[in-house]
Parts: sequence; structure tokens; C-alpha cells
Amino acid sequence: MINPALPVSWKAVARAEEIPEGKGKLVREGRLELLVFHTKETWTAFDNTCPHAGAPIYAEHFDGERVTCIYHGLQFSAKDGSCVGCAGWSLDPYLVKEEGGQVLVGFPVRGSGDASATSS
Ligand code: FES
Repeated sequence: MINPALPVSWKAVARAEEIPEGKGKLVREGRLELLVFHTKETWTAFDNTCPHAGAPIYAEHFDGERVTCIYHGLQFSAKDGSCVGCAGWSLDPYLVKEEGGQVLVGFPVRGSGDASATSS
């Protein structure tokens, strides 16, 4: 989740070449499962939990712009995680960027003295 008040710690979760434009990938960090999408414009990442009934969402059901939850068919924009046609529901976003051929996700640092954490 993105909270601008919290510093983040950037961690590499995949090589950029593993996720071509128009594709997505499920990545794991500890107990978290995240969907990372490579859209035409940018990279995005979201918690892999459908806000409808908590089901996992599969990266294979990403068409380059939207991902469809196969359980009840809701679609979510890969740009911002918003539900298409069901205002008020959205996937929980994470900061993500590509740097040096690596896909990095920004994980919030809570209450640690981690001096390496940055939000840049
Ligand atoms: S659990 Fe995803 S649409 Fe219902």
C-alpha cells in the first residue's frame, strides 16, 4: 500500500526482461503476493487480493490494460487498480519502478531505524 508519510525500502522483485510490455507477473516478498504489470506507459504493482471477496487474481488474465478476476469477473485497471464499472473498489497499490534492468517495489518501512530507506 502507498502511504506518502512512510519511507519505503526498494527491493528487486524481478528482472525487467521477465515481464515484457503488456504482461504481468506474480511476485512474492515474504508473505505478500504482488501483481506487477508492465503497461504501455509504465510499471504498476498491486496486492494480489481481489477487493470483492478476497480471492487471488492471476497475472495470466491481464490483457495489457486490465486484469480480470476469474472468480466473479470484475476487471481492474492496471494503471491505478480501480475497478472498471464498480466505483469504490480497487486493488491495493504499491510503488514500483524499473531501474538497471530490475523491477523494484517500494515496501513501506514501519517503525524501523532503517537508514537505507528512501522514498525517491
Ligand atoms: S473475488 Fe474477485 S470478482 Fe469476486
